[in-house]
Amino acid sequence: MNPIIRHLEETTSTNTYLQEWIVKEEVPEGSVVTARIQTQGRGQAGNKWSAEQGKNLTFSMVLYPTFVAANEQFIISQITALAVKEALSRYVSDISIKWPNDIYYRDQKITGILIENNLTERVISSSILGIGININQQEFPDYLPNPVSLIQIIGKEVSIQEVLDLFVAHIGRYYEQIRADKESVRIQYFDSLYRNDGLYAFYDMLRKEEIRGSILSVEPNGILRLQKEDGEIRSYWFKEVQYIL
Ligand code: BTN
Repeated sequence: MNPIIRHLEETTSTNTYLQEWIVKEEVPEGSVVTARIQTQGRGQAGNKWSAEQGKNLTFSMVLYPTFVAANEQFIISQITALAVKEALSRYVSDISIKWPNDIYYRDQKITGILIENNLTERVISSSILGIGININQQEFPDYLPNPVSLIQIIGKEVSIQEVLDLFVAHIGRYYEQIRADKESVRIQYFDSLYRNDGLYAFYDMLRKEEIRGSILSVEPNGILRLQKEDGEIRSYWFKEVQYIL
């Protein structure tokens, strides 16, 4: 079945819309829902995702990666981040992936990703890739720490549809790649990581202390391994460590 592309004027959240749609109907793999306006856009950790209406790309795509084991589900985050990175790299350089899956331009956030996997037995039965890419928004609310958009970087408007088309092409390629070889994708992900090249400050949320360390690796389950200045190696799940920018 060919993917369906639905462009909505307004919805609460494209992730929620797509989750409800796949329960009601057989939605072909690769189908996409975009919205010009999201009234309840969702971010990571229960946060809100806000975007000026019509200015940015806010969309979700459904995959059915039943060949991916539940304990390897992070590979879906990795290919999503890589596909966004490549789409944006068509316009600007210096795009990287901030672990686990924010997309950064230099030290600023240009894209947020919210992956929602549905698990059956020990595999992923469906995966909703929710992506918000800042494209033509010129100003952001003050409460956002470090947002940036394409227009702020390159000084001209970019076609939202064109960025979507680029993402769709790249994710298709990466999706094929992980069927055959997940390891090469993990290497590409590591090579694309923000601050993968030396000592940086991090905040250890468990021990409530600032540390300096370098990123050693990202494990297949998504765990980040840091090596502290004194040689100690620490492993972190999402939200257990923060980059200090
Ligand atoms: C983050 O907190 O960084 C993740 C933000 C993800 C936002 C996108 S916008 C399209 C999709 N629908 C949502 O409600 N959220 C995601």
